Amino acid sequence: MQDFFKNNRKKVISSLKEDKAIILLFAGKAQHKTCDQFFPFEPNRNFYYMTGIDKPHLIYMGIKNGENIEETLFIERYDELKAKWEGKTIREDEAKNISGIENIKYIDEFYASLSNLMFRNSIETAYLDLENRYLDKNRRAFKEAEILKENYPYVNIKNIYNELGYYRLFKEPQEIENMKKAIAITKKGIENIWKNTKPNIMEYELEACFDYEIKRNGSKDVAFNTILASGSNATVLHYVDNNDKINDGELILIDLGATYGYYNADISRTFPANGKFSQRQKQLYNIVLEGQRKVIEAIKPELPFKRLNEILIEHYEEELKKIGLIKDKSEISKYYYHGVSHYLGLDTHDVSRDLGTDNGLKPGMVITVEPGLYIAEEGIGIRIEDDILVTETGYENLSKDIIKTVEDIEDFFKNR
Ligand code: GLY
Ligand code: MN
Ligand code: MN
Repeated sequence: MQDFFKNNRKKVISSLKEDKAIILLFAGKAQHKTCDQFFPFEPNRNFYYMTGIDKPHLIYMGIKNGENIEETLFIERYDELKAKWEGKTIREDEAKNISGIENIKYIDEFYASLSNLMFRNSIETAYLDLENRYLDKNRRAFKEAEILKENYPYVNIKNIYNELGYYRLFKEPQEIENMKKAIAITKKGIENIWKNTKPNIMEYELEACFDYEIKRNGSKDVAFNTILASGSNATVLHYVDNNDKINDGELILIDLGATYGYYNADISRTFPANGKFSQRQKQLYNIVLEGQRKVIEAIKPELPFKRLNEILIEHYEEELKKIGLIKDKSEISKYYYHGVSHYLGLDTHDVSRDLGTDNGLKPGMVITVEPGLYIAEEGIGIRIEDDILVTETGYENLSKDIIKTVEDIEDFFKNR
């Protein structure tokens, strides 16, 4: 993977228009939970994409001076006592091997190096990952932007997020392999849920079946908080309480994923608590499934991203009118209130291009297709979600092995 990370840096940094630029990326640190407890550390995904290292506090510094790129990775100094309490921190050779960065220094040398390199290279622009969704002023990159403004007022501070987001859209073969593994593990987790599903079980018990199975199969963690929603809970898009009893006759919506090498799966399935769809459940389910089929089959290079949702809306307009659920198109939003696709990768809602632009799908992109239908008055929420790779000629459904027709799901329950 060293070449992959090296190449990522090359692509991103070469694409920056400015010469005499510095690029600073921070690995981040574990977030405080309560008292002396912290949430598990999650590396900043852009830092990971550029270095391959998943340890806290590290700093990447790249200097772009014309064609020349000079790189330094700052790691923690070895601390014997810390090693005894918390484990070893990454050592020089390991950091070099993973990232391919030859020049390794210690974090306590960072500001002296910064000052030296800023001056020596007459730096005019500083690139930091300032994101474009959440403004968390406690993040190191924001704090560092303030420090740079204070100490180097002549330097232009820019956000590197969009350049990184652009390259992260196009998955390399090793990224696709990781995603396939994450999806294969997710399949095992879903099947373990199905093996244990029965009326009167608690939602969190089935969530535990997923967690157990994915960890047994090599996934360190879930990609996002598992949604395991029965009955009307399934009409809440991001229901993560998972603490209700599942009743006989209800549908269960699961939206979950395993991770592998920090790459995510994002899969939704909907199935009956008792293993058999009612006529009404089957009617609605098949409308969603058919909508998903139409959207997936339309996927090919150059298709505008926004067309995906339009295809689903056109399908819903026709089918929901037919069953008398709606009278006209404007009523669809009462029963379907999200988009049908998002990019998928190192983040579940993966970074992408500038918001607002839509240059069409391209080979190497991975997107979800996740139509839903939520009828609160009937206590029914349905979502079916697969992960799709855009190819040169069309698409590959990476999660096609996770069954989803009414017949296949009912057969699974009969034969489990
Ligand atoms: N699990 C969140 C989503 O499907 O977008
Ligand atoms: Mn999902
Ligand atoms: Mn999704």
